[in-house]
Amino acid sequence: MTPVLEARGLGRAFGALLAVNDVSMAVASGELRAVIGPNGAGKTTLFHLISGLLAPTRGRIAFRGEDVTALSAPERCRLGISRTFQITSVFPELSVLENVRIAVQLKAGGNFRLLGGRGLIQASERRARESLAALGLSDRADALAATLPHGDQRLLEIAMAVAQEPELLLLDEPTQGLSPEDTAATVAVIRRIARERQLTILLVEHDMDVVFDLADRVSVLHFGQLIADGTPEEIRANADVQKAYLGGAD
Ligand SMILES: Nc1ncnc2c1ncn2[C@@H]1O[C@H](COP(=O)(O)OP(=O)(O)OP(=O)(O)O)[C@@H](O)[C@H]1O
Ligand SMILES: [Mg+2]
Repeated sequence: MTPVLEARGLGRAFGALLAVNDVSMAVASGELRAVIGPNGAGKTTLFHLISGLLAPTRGRIAFRGEDVTALSAPERCRLGISRTFQITSVFPELSVLENVRIAVQLKAGGNFRLLGGRGLIQASERRARESLAALGLSDRADALAATLPHGDQRLLEIAMAVAQEPELLLLDEPTQGLSPEDTAATVAVIRRIARERQLTILLVEHDMDVVFDLADRVSVLHFGQLIADGTPEEIRANADVQKAYLGGAD
């Protein structure tokens, strides 16, 4: 079966630094793939390349078998690639519902048609409310995003991406800065939406308990290169990974 995502020889240089260096990987439909690696390993840069926020300096990216390397981030979003950011990226002065509605309309129109036709507003609001319900945020719909606790802001960001009804969802450290309780709740939510919506998910995560709990497969980046790719059991047992990451982290 054609992988949902395929990277071939993907690279991104910043001056002399190769932040992502010759990465080739394939992610199957419905898979939950964790991307791990030490700080500065290139995880976020890889997500920027896949979502189209950054252009690669070499290599190709295919989505459902179609080469998307030359497409912009909004174009890739319309095809079915959505993402969240490592640093929470919501509009603090807008309500929770408005944040999600904008995400829906960004996908539909590719621009901020906040005051679009009534049909557009109703359809996008319906989808936004449905996504908020899936993330357990319905009762916060009218609150200003800025007033949400950190954990709920992280969930709001996932709601914004989910409302775009992606096939491939990229989550960059969704549990960063969360309490153990909020982390557990977020993990449960991710597992549920992945199953219910048959999503393919790429997840950057530093918490190894979360990784080994959630992931079907794990890819390990180290200085921009993919040093291992396997099941959680294989990764746990991999000596290179131990040396590069697991051993050094604690
Ligand atoms: N826009 C940029 N300009 C120059 N260097 C950059 C830029 N973005 C990232 N880098 C560098 O590329 C390397 C990879 O960074 P990246 O943010 O992808 O790592 P990461 O694995 O996400 O790290 P972390 O776990 O800390 O989030 C780092 O050395 C970083 O300093
Ligand atoms: Mg990062």
